[in-house]
Amino acid sequence: MKFQNAVNIEDLRKIARKRLPKFVFSYVDGGSEDERTLSGNLDALARWRFKPRTLIDVSARDTAATVMGAPARMPVIVGPTGLNGLSWRNGDLEMAQASAIMGVPFAASTVCMSLLEDVREQAGGELMFQAYVFNERRITDALIQRAQDAGFGTLIITSDFPVAGKRERDFRSGMLPKQQFPLSTKLNILMHPRWVASVATNKPRFVNVERELGPGHDVNNFVGHGMFDPSLCWDDLKRFRDRWPGNLLLKGVLRADDAQRAVSIGVDGVVLSNHGGRQLDSAISGLDALPEVAAAIAGKASIIVDGGVRRGSDIAKAIALGAQAVILGRAPVYGLAAGGREGALKALEILQEELDTTLALTGCRSIGDLSPDLLVKVE
Ligand SMILES: Cc1cc2nc3c(=O)[nH]c(=O)nc-3n(C[C@H](O)[C@H](O)[C@H](O)COP(=O)(O)O)c2cc1C
Repeated sequence: MKFQNAVNIEDLRKIARKRLPKFVFSYVDGGSEDERTLSGNLDALARWRFKPRTLIDVSARDTAATVMGAPARMPVIVGPTGLNGLSWRNGDLEMAQASAIMGVPFAASTVCMSLLEDVREQAGGELMFQAYVFNERRITDALIQRAQDAGFGTLIITSDFPVAGKRERDFRSGMLPKQQFPLSTKLNILMHPRWVASVATNKPRFVNVERELGPGHDVNNFVGHGMFDPSLCWDDLKRFRDRWPGNLLLKGVLRADDAQRAVSIGVDGVVLSNHGGRQLDSAISGLDALPEVAAAIAGKASIIVDGGVRRGSDIAKAIALGAQAVILGRAPVYGLAAGGREGALKALEILQEELDTTLALTGCRSIGDLSPDLLVKVE
């Protein structure tokens, strides 16, 4: 199937699985340990069912929303997902371009593979920067400064990665711990000549981190399994708040008390997230945390949810339960892997059309009409 003919995100996932070497697809698709949280994210969304309003004139509808103060075509943020350059040549840039064309914000990961400055110049649109905090703090500080200088409006601090989750698919493929591939992975790579010619020959690297490390350092040795600072704590969040003038989001919150603490430090929003089931396995889903967090901080800060969003109706559910926006992780990456910028755009178009359909079928004309009474939880 061509990506142009994809009808839903699962179609794009299937195309991505064919196009990518197994080690890359497993990295994108997989989660940690038994992948309970990975599948739990999908289950959490499926448990909510609509009680639609009927006989409402829905002839004029609009999926537009405001995301962290900026207008967006729909209430979503694309990314942050690291290593997009493995899914498509210059993948981060193409993903940012697709986001800008669709009119939704793009969040560049610390471990993205395009320069932040190039993303600003060649994609534009509403940009966010996601910071991981390295053991070597000066690298993180320098990256944040560059994001600020390049006009990124929002800083996302990811807090659910004190150590890496145990991603067993990556250990099996040889991607972890140190990209030493067994023969089976090497043979599988050779069975994907189009990927080798387009992506591998381009030598995707962590170009932003590399620039800060300076000459004489191998970035692949630096960006490894134990690279992030496990001592990251609330005092650090205060420090980021003091130094970052734009919007600040804390990503990786799953409890109302943590959300309240973040708000008391002055964050502009929290992202309820389990990192797409890639970190703590058996963690609850962001959606499960949403009602409790909304009760605690609604009106004081934005609430963003992620995990398992594969349908426009999933976006509608999160918004109806009190989120201002959702983060899309894998859905646009499947599109990117299936067809580059156009494939990522296809993923966003599919979701936007499904969201529009969901609005109509639930008796809503706008995102603002989505409310908790439209949903019921089935066990
Ligand atoms: C391939 C991949 C790479 C990711 N890289 C990052 C990252 O660099 N920083 C981060 O904060 N989250 C990262 N995440 C987590 C996503 O931002 C998001 O929380 C998660 O993917 C949402 O779940 P979903 O993929 O089911 O939509 C990554 C997720 C995936 C799938």
